[in-house]
Amino acid sequence: MSHPPVEQRGAWRALADHADEIGQRHLRDFFTDQQGRFATFSRQAAGLTLDLSKQRWNETTLSLLLELARDAGVPNAIRGLLAGERLNLSENRPALHTALRLPADARLDVEGEDLVTSVHATLDRMASMVERFHSGQWRGATGKPIRDVVNLGVGGSDLGPLMVTHALADYRPEGVHRIDVHFASTMDGSQLADYLSRLNPETTLFVLSSKSFTTIDTMTNARTARDWLKARLLGGDREEGVDEALVMRQHFVGVSASPEKMREWGIADEHQLEFWEWVGGRYSLWGGIGLPIALVVGMQNFRELLAGAHDMDRHFSEAEMSDNLPVLLALAGIWNVNFLDIRAHSILPYDGRLEYFAAYLEQLEMESNGKSVNHDGEPVGYSTCPVLWGQLGPNAQHAFYQLLHQGTQSVECDFIAPRVRYDDVADPATRDHLMSQHRLTLSNCFAQSRALMLGDAALEDEGPRPGHKRYAGNQPSSTLLLDRLTPRTLGALVALYEHKVFVQATIWDINPFDQWGVELGKTLAGETQRILEHQAGLDGMDDSTRGLIEAVWAAESREPE
Ligand code: F6P
Repeated sequence: MSHPPVEQRGAWRALADHADEIGQRHLRDFFTDQQGRFATFSRQAAGLTLDLSKQRWNETTLSLLLELARDAGVPNAIRGLLAGERLNLSENRPALHTALRLPADARLDVEGEDLVTSVHATLDRMASMVERFHSGQWRGATGKPIRDVVNLGVGGSDLGPLMVTHALADYRPEGVHRIDVHFASTMDGSQLADYLSRLNPETTLFVLSSKSFTTIDTMTNARTARDWLKARLLGGDREEGVDEALVMRQHFVGVSASPEKMREWGIADEHQLEFWEWVGGRYSLWGGIGLPIALVVGMQNFRELLAGAHDMDRHFSEAEMSDNLPVLLALAGIWNVNFLDIRAHSILPYDGRLEYFAAYLEQLEMESNGKSVNHDGEPVGYSTCPVLWGQLGPNAQHAFYQLLHQGTQSVECDFIAPRVRYDDVADPATRDHLMSQHRLTLSNCFAQSRALMLGDAALEDEGPRPGHKRYAGNQPSSTLLLDRLTPRTLGALVALYEHKVFVQATIWDINPFDQWGVELGKTLAGETQRILEHQAGLDGMDDSTRGLIEAVWAAESREPE
């Protein structure tokens, strides 16, 4: 029996009617009408507290949304995801990032194969690599210990490790040979050129992170790095015995789902970390792509990160939907996007260590759910992923919060902060200062969500004031408190958002695990590059692009000033 599209089903229609009733109600009135909203709308799991009381909803809304989730088959979808069903229909494969964080004594048989064994074999391989680096035994071609590692990757092969290494920089293990990790993603070579100008080739190693091992951005950076090493380590009066094979072996590690391509490129077999087709790029920081993370925080902390994500996986699988953090966060988003027509979402961490968290979520959410056709390839009749962006909250207060407070857009915000920080700083005077700075930061976080909720009503003096001093309020937000920012809670936080994305995709009936939208641009870029390089082939090009290309040619033919 064919299933009617979600927006034609009873649960959706009931929510639309309910939105007609309460959609115009101001957020401050929800607080006046209902005591104890924090207790009603906040939940805890895996070291995280999620407060959804500043959403523009009441208990009826939530029960209707839970009905919608049940009607859309969310419980069954969660079971299918974790069991490794082929939910990624357009690519006919499972999405098994959760398998990457199963403990060693778990078992997951998918289509006759036990995945846990191969996942842990890769983790063990990673562990022995990390041990070689941290003991100073991983030496460059001239015999000096490797000191700097540059990750060459883009998208999911960059943003996850970049975000986590930054967030957990305090967790460097003591007493090990220090490795500094750097990230170069842009195809224009700006980041790489900077590293090449200041790193020592004898003590620098590159990790080529690319699931496909074909991404032009990464492969172009990799070629530049390879030639930089060869030019500096081979020939001339360089040390004897240093040959190309040695340079390739000692200065490159590859992480990819294609061992053949890694081998072809020259990555030694023993320096390859494989990952699987059933792990999506933006869901991959938990395996070999996490090597830069393990190099910074050590393997024990990396395993803690996995354990935290697994805590959240278990919660996702076992908790009732009404207590299930990813489900609730997803439903708040659905309510805003589909019933209150709020299609902008800002991610605002109040902790400098989470500087790259918004950039990470931009890919996770928008590459996953920025879709407009359902699983049957038919256009959907409702909005899907909102435009999502963010920045460290305290800095954003001095930048784009103006729009949040007085602009014409409704925006949903996620405020994220640890409850405690700096209580472990050894020097008491500095500790007091820093703890006080943390309390200042939390005060700003809580004050901003309150101001966005209440608007003018937050001020004691509600007397008349000119328009430019008025605040409408009524901007909904969620607040996420981490008990503290540790490898374990960070793992849980990331998994929370991964699962939120999945629940929304299930309700929207879209595939969160493919990304065909990025392909057209890649094809056209290839064509355009051929034209630019060969100064020919403009026929058939549209007038704007032709004008731009000709402007480049004109500039190239001029003498440099
Ligand atoms: O172009 C998009 C994309 O395929 C992302 O999905 C992916 O994370 C990124 O490029 C990098 O891909 P790869 O790891 O294959 O180099």
